[in-house]
Amino acid sequence: MGGPWTEEKLDAFQKYVDAYLKIMHSTRAKHNGWPYEIIYFDGFAGSGQRILKESVDKNKKLQFEDYLTEETQVYEGSAERVLKLDKKFDKYYFIDIDEGAINTLKERLSEKGLINDKCYFHCGDVNKYIKLLVSNLDKNKVALILLDPFGMQVDWKSIEIMKGKRIDL
Ligand SMILES: C[S@@+](CC[C@H](N)C(=O)[O-])C[C@H]1O[C@@H](n2cnc3c(N)ncnc32)[C@H](O)[C@@H]1O
Repeated sequence: MGGPWTEEKLDAFQKYVDAYLKIMHSTRAKHNGWPYEIIYFDGFAGSGQRILKESVDKNKKLQFEDYLTEETQVYEGSAERVLKLDKKFDKYYFIDIDEGAINTLKERLSEKGLINDKCYFHCGDVNKYIKLLVSNLDKNKVALILLDPFGMQVDWKSIEIMKGKRIDL
C-alpha cells in the first residue's frame, strides 16, 4: 500500500539507478573491465506491485484525506523498474521475509520475461543477506543496495559492516 509519494520516490530511484548503471558501464569501458561485477541488491523487494488508493485529480494539491479515498491503481515496484532499464547489472538479488511476496514477485517478473540466470530470489531476513553480500564483496565488485522498509527492520550492524566497501546505499 502506498500513496503518490511512493510513486514519486520510485520514479526518482529509477532515474538514479539508470544514471548509476550508465556511470558504472562507462567506467568499465575505460578501466579494462573494472568493476568486474556490478551487483544489485534489493533487501525489501516486496511482491512487485504497489496499490495506490487514489481517486483524485493529479493536478490538485492533495490533502491528507485525499490519500484515503477509494479506487486502487497498481504501480510497478522497484524490482520491475530496475530490471527494465537498458543497462544491466551482472547479478540481481531480491530479498523479502515474506515467502508469498517473494514468490509472487518472481512469478510476476517471469511472466513479463524480465528474469534470467543472473537473478536470485531469497526469502529471509535482510540483515542475514546483507552480511552475506558484504562478505563476498572485494575491490573488484561494486554494489547498489536498495533498502525500502516499512519500519526499522535494518540493524545498525548491517549498515556498519558496509563501511569501506564499494557500496551505494
Ligand atoms: C515497502 S515494502 C517494499 C516495496 C518494494 N521496494 C517495491 O517497490 O515494491 C517492504 C517489504 O519488506 C518486507 N520485509 C519486512 N521485514 C523484512 C525483513 N526483516 N527482511 C526482509 N524483508 C522484510 C515486507 O515483507 C515487505 O514486502
